Amino acid sequence: MATQFDAAQAGGSRPARFASSLSVMVREFLRKPSLVGSAFPASRHLVDALLDPVDWSSARLVVEYGPGCGPLTRAILERLPRDGRLVAIDVSRHFTRHLRDTIADPRLIAVTACAGSAETVLARHGLGPADAIVTGIPFSTMPRRSAARILDVSARVLRDDGQLLAYQMRSTVAPMLAERFSTLDTAMAWRNIPPCRLYWARGPVD
Ligand SMILES: C[S@@+](CC[C@H](N)C(=O)[O-])C[C@H]1O[C@@H](n2cnc3c(N)ncnc32)[C@H](O)[C@@H]1O
Repeated sequence: MATQFDAAQAGGSRPARFASSLSVMVREFLRKPSLVGSAFPASRHLVDALLDPVDWSSARLVVEYGPGCGPLTRAILERLPRDGRLVAIDVSRHFTRHLRDTIADPRLIAVTACAGSAETVLARHGLGPADAIVTGIPFSTMPRRSAARILDVSARVLRDDGQLLAYQMRSTVAPMLAERFSTLDTAMAWRNIPPCRLYWARGPVD
């Protein structure tokens, strides 16, 4: 769904924005490869394949972990109702600053923090529970304890009918999602560098 905020993209023309996004992504990947996971932003094909199966028309609060340079952030904002909010949480202040500099949309709150602090971040903004969590953070290269904590927090911040959408290069996260959600659907996005697994986890389990 197009919104009145489409015209509010800051940071120059589309090619200029793409060049600046790619440059921040490559720089951050070279600085912290295991945290960033890939030097390439998610492709439009991956973004649409992950987001299109979901009905965003009634979403009020979406949380994104690891927005990076923002390909999913922009696509979520394109789909989000005008009174929705998107809280984008990234550990790198370079990425959150890039989002603030290139997306002028009052529905977006960009926060520098670990995804494991999502509950605290939402409470600080008086927001929650969330309709959806969207993420491409590399669960396979982080310590298992950290991945488990992030997923435990995720199951708590989601509404009962909320869902977690993830794209991952490896399948490490699959059993961890299956432990915490009643339904797990998967697919592959081949038209991405590298090809990625897509996950839709519904029904957080207490
Ligand atoms: C593969 S990149 C994905 C970026 C973006 N979704 C894209 O497609 O371009 C992973 C992102 O997750 C962030 N990240 C890694 N661990 C995180 C954590 N524990 N909490 C929040 N962000 C994290 C990294 O800084 C990076 O921006």
